[in-house]
Amino acid sequence: MAITIEDNDILRAPIGVFDSGFGGLTILRDIRQRLPQYDYLFVGDNARAPYGTRSRELVYEFTLQAVKHLFAQGCHLIILACNTASAEALRTIQQNDLPTLAPNRRVLGVVRPTVEKVGELTRTGHIGVFGTPGTIASRSYNIEIEGMYPGFKVHGHACPMWVPLVENRESEGDGADYFVKKDIDQLMNDCPDIDTVILGCTHYPLLINKINRYRPQGVNIIQQGPIVADSLADYLQRHPEIEQHCSRGGSCRYYTTEDPDHFSPLASVFVNEPVNATRIIL
Ligand code: DGL
Repeated sequence: MAITIEDNDILRAPIGVFDSGFGGLTILRDIRQRLPQYDYLFVGDNARAPYGTRSRELVYEFTLQAVKHLFAQGCHLIILACNTASAEALRTIQQNDLPTLAPNRRVLGVVRPTVEKVGELTRTGHIGVFGTPGTIASRSYNIEIEGMYPGFKVHGHACPMWVPLVENRESEGDGADYFVKKDIDQLMNDCPDIDTVILGCTHYPLLINKINRYRPQGVNIIQQGPIVADSLADYLQRHPEIEQHCSRGGSCRYYTTEDPDHFSPLASVFVNEPVNATRIIL
């Protein structure tokens, strides 16, 4: 039997932010900069990351577990700050799970707000997308972009080595030069008319120095953090029925499914402040 979460049990609660691991902290950092007045609760499923090479079924199952956990903490609004989860699980959760699980609560992703930005930047209509194998295989960016801008052409390219480079703190190393250059060259060989490239994975902003070194001149790079933050601010303004449930204490709590002694030091590098995480089991 489906369990419905009652909406009047907790009036105000933090905004939930979920990622498979560390990467979503880049989005959280920008959200907190833009909307510092709210409380946040971050969950990183580090024990089961990366999601990008997992099956769609597992990404959905794991993401739904995290969503239920955040709802149980009282969150009325959850941001899936993970492209793989947004691409592979969000639609099913919104359409199939939310109506029975928590009809008055919301789960939002990062793909749609990113896509809304594309039209302002491109002149050629040829858009490149870098992402995990899961995100690229899902074709979520293709579907969203081609639906919003008929005539635009989307060129997806999976970069399976980029997340491990970041997680292993090799984003400034020589290995990063090799893989970033190789993937950019392959994308641009696929279509030299690409003038706008989406970094469709939360880890990729940490490779921005290398990406800027190897991107051809005149090619725009779209980073998601500030875009998602602006989009959330706009959403909260347009949806007072959700905003009224978001508590305003300026705090942030961190939860991880891995060992917090492993999570906390690296997480503090991502968010630029001390992190003292707590372990959870989803
Ligand atoms: N956070 C994931 C994303 O944005 C990248 C890491 C992973 O593969 O789990 O797609």
